[in-house]
Amino acid sequence: MKRTPINELLKSTDLGKEINVKGWVRTKRGNKSVAFINLNDGSIIHGIQIVADLTNFDENLMKLITTGSCISVNGTLVQSQGQGQAVEIQATHIEVYGSADAELYPLQKKGHTLEFLREIAHLRPRTNTFGAVLRIRHAMAFAIHKYFNDHGFYYIHTPIITGSDAEGAGAMFRVTTLDPINPPKNDKGEVNYEEDFFGKETNLTVSGQLEGELAALALSKIYTFGPTFRAENSNTARHLAEFWMIEPEVAFNDLVDNMDLAEDFLKYLIQYALEHCNDDLEFLTKMYDNELLSRLRFVVENHFERLTYTEAVEILKTTDHKFEFPVDWGADLQSEHERYLVEKHFKRPVILTHYPKEIKAFYMKQSEDGKTVKAMDVLFPGIGEIIGGSQREEDYEKLHTRILEMGIHEKDLWWYLETRKYGTCPHAGFGLGFERLILFVTGMGNIRDVIPFPRTPKNAEF
Ligand code: 4AD
Ligand code: MG
Repeated sequence: MKRTPINELLKSTDLGKEINVKGWVRTKRGNKSVAFINLNDGSIIHGIQIVADLTNFDENLMKLITTGSCISVNGTLVQSQGQGQAVEIQATHIEVYGSADAELYPLQKKGHTLEFLREIAHLRPRTNTFGAVLRIRHAMAFAIHKYFNDHGFYYIHTPIITGSDAEGAGAMFRVTTLDPINPPKNDKGEVNYEEDFFGKETNLTVSGQLEGELAALALSKIYTFGPTFRAENSNTARHLAEFWMIEPEVAFNDLVDNMDLAEDFLKYLIQYALEHCNDDLEFLTKMYDNELLSRLRFVVENHFERLTYTEAVEILKTTDHKFEFPVDWGADLQSEHERYLVEKHFKRPVILTHYPKEIKAFYMKQSEDGKTVKAMDVLFPGIGEIIGGSQREEDYEKLHTRILEMGIHEKDLWWYLETRKYGTCPHAGFGLGFERLILFVTGMGNIRDVIPFPRTPKNAEF
């Protein structure tokens, strides 16, 4: 018999139908004559109740059905006698695919801490929490592609291995096949990367933007959605060494268009989650964060506050609030400053623009004031920066001068500069950190808990 997923069975009104269901046992209870098994197959957060009349089942078989075991059940879909579910299954045949030793199975009991679950990342998808997070993560990935497809964007695959450093000065992971103990050296005694696999130094990408821009200057509206890597030693609840980034890039857009796109896009994604992930969001709201649903609705229904970096610094300097780090025009804002603006001052998402050029990347469009660039960061409650982007410098001379000023190797970026020589145009784009979006939508507190296998300093076990 063909398996029916539990999400379909729970909606079914086909009472009396013979069905097959497969999944993992969450709990088994009962008495001498009957066993109640709660079975979950991950298709939905809810399990289905299996009722087994013990006169029909072998005692040894029933012993194998423990928490965590995987079984296949044939039976009849019936109206539930118990509370909490509309339908249940009256079992006629049970096959045990794999038992799980009750003494050893790490998820035998409920209520493990998230920290403990991180140590068993190979098993944590079987918990309600990670099932919910992973289904929401899927829904958000799907919604991202849907949004862009519906709005005329093309999906571009940018390389994972690159010979350039898009963000400038970003810490990168080297990609090499050279012998680490005894690498080839040149006359000066330096490692000779000409003998390396690609004949030059290469790294894992920190962003697909530069290659994305090349495509936008041909297809007009593009986006990338891929893994990015940063070797910064930031041990925070918001940083991963490997994370996924979504980077739209649009020819002919300016900074205001860019902000409009970012706001519309984020609201669409959150609205999509509210419409399609209700059971999982309700679970997470109940378990972890009772303001989650209302916060999501608030963001969808209200406009994002837009102001310049300079205006933000004014607000931060005049408030009575005490910060750990000082605020001074020219310095990057710390996350405590960003969160003060969002959570205390404006009480809504904020888009900050026109940052000092010294603290931003070389490719951002220089403002008329000579001091700032047409940058934008979108700041979210509980998260801080969720999006970073800008209008791009499309003027060859200005871009070239900035590259030299910042000490970036022109020879690594000749191809990027050529787009400003041949048919350049105004354009803008941004990067959304996928895991930061998932943090916001799920209300989870730590970024390690919204990606299946987190990569952080000293952690790549699974
Ligand atoms: O602000 P960032 O560094 O911008 C860029 O990489 C640009 N090239 C984007 C563009 O304009 N196309 O990174 C963009 C976003 C951040 O706002 C943040 O959400 C996320 O990526 N991010 C991280 N997420 C998790 N772990 C990290 N270490 C992250 N670093 C950035
Ligand atoms: Mg940034």
